[in-house]
Amino acid sequence: MVKASAPGKCILFGEHAVVYGQPALACSISQRMSIELEREDTFDSWRIDGRTFNGKKHPHIKYIRDHLPPHDEQPLHIRIRGTIPKASGLGSSAALSVALCGALQQIRDEPQNLQQASELSHQAEAQAQGGRASPMDTATSAYGGFVVLSDSIEEDLDFIETRSMEVNGEQQEWHLHTFEATIPEGTALVIGNTGVHGSTSAMVLQVAELIQNEPTRKVELETIGAIARRGIQALRNGDMKAVGQAMSENHIVLRSLGVSSPDLERLIRAAAPSSLGVKMTGAGGGGCMIALTENPEETVGAIEMQGGRAFITAFNEPGLQIEHLT
Ligand code: MEV
Repeated sequence: MVKASAPGKCILFGEHAVVYGQPALACSISQRMSIELEREDTFDSWRIDGRTFNGKKHPHIKYIRDHLPPHDEQPLHIRIRGTIPKASGLGSSAALSVALCGALQQIRDEPQNLQQASELSHQAEAQAQGGRASPMDTATSAYGGFVVLSDSIEEDLDFIETRSMEVNGEQQEWHLHTFEATIPEGTALVIGNTGVHGSTSAMVLQVAELIQNEPTRKVELETIGAIARRGIQALRNGDMKAVGQAMSENHIVLRSLGVSSPDLERLIRAAAPSSLGVKMTGAGGGGCMIALTENPEETVGAIEMQGGRAFITAFNEPGLQIEHLT
């Protein structure tokens, strides 16, 4: 049996705009997805958690299985476990895809290959999102820590790789980097979940249609990019007040793009007074918000008072990991 796990992510700056090549920053979080693979002796087809595998229900898994198949014909039983809520903006499908790549690499007796896991998972995401996906979620899940995507190679960050893909008929290029951030003692990241599922493909399509119908709205994506640049620099300087301010500004532009929701707004309003900065995270239309705060207990309480589920997360969890091999 083979087991691999990968973390979820939260986007601190730049969701949606990153699909169009604007800079963005995400970090891995404490919640993870894990995949166990076991050779199937009694059934002659692949199964997932005891049920016959259905590629339509699990498009990410189908894509990765087709591109990274085991060397022999013997079917596998896939067990999916994890603590990342589905369709919540925390990258559950990216983490699932990355963990599956890690487990299949083991089954194929290949050394762990983070770049392959990150790339194949990105392609699986793009297929599931109507061809529009940045490598943000999948790279953060594969590499862990803080991941910066930029339209140029940033000399003062640690370069990981360059990825390109056609989005809405235009070739996009993302340069991926990481860096060590020092988060001052006492500063925490709180995640608040509305409990409402948001569809990434629907929200990404909504933004695509908006800028197609009103091309001048592309300026808003550029504004998000400029805020992201400022926020990333503030984080590197350890200026958490400025990080929080940039997060809140980023949220205002996301709201004007129409990807927030009344539930997200309610949790954001509740968390704001006790926080340095608040914003939705991920594709929106439901899902989660995040708060950068020096008063995490108070922020958690405020979100819960408004009916959200809230928890404090670590910023900087390890990426793809092989759990054990028997
Ligand atoms: C989803 O977590 C983030 C989006 O920017 C989509 C993407 O980057 O592919 C909305």
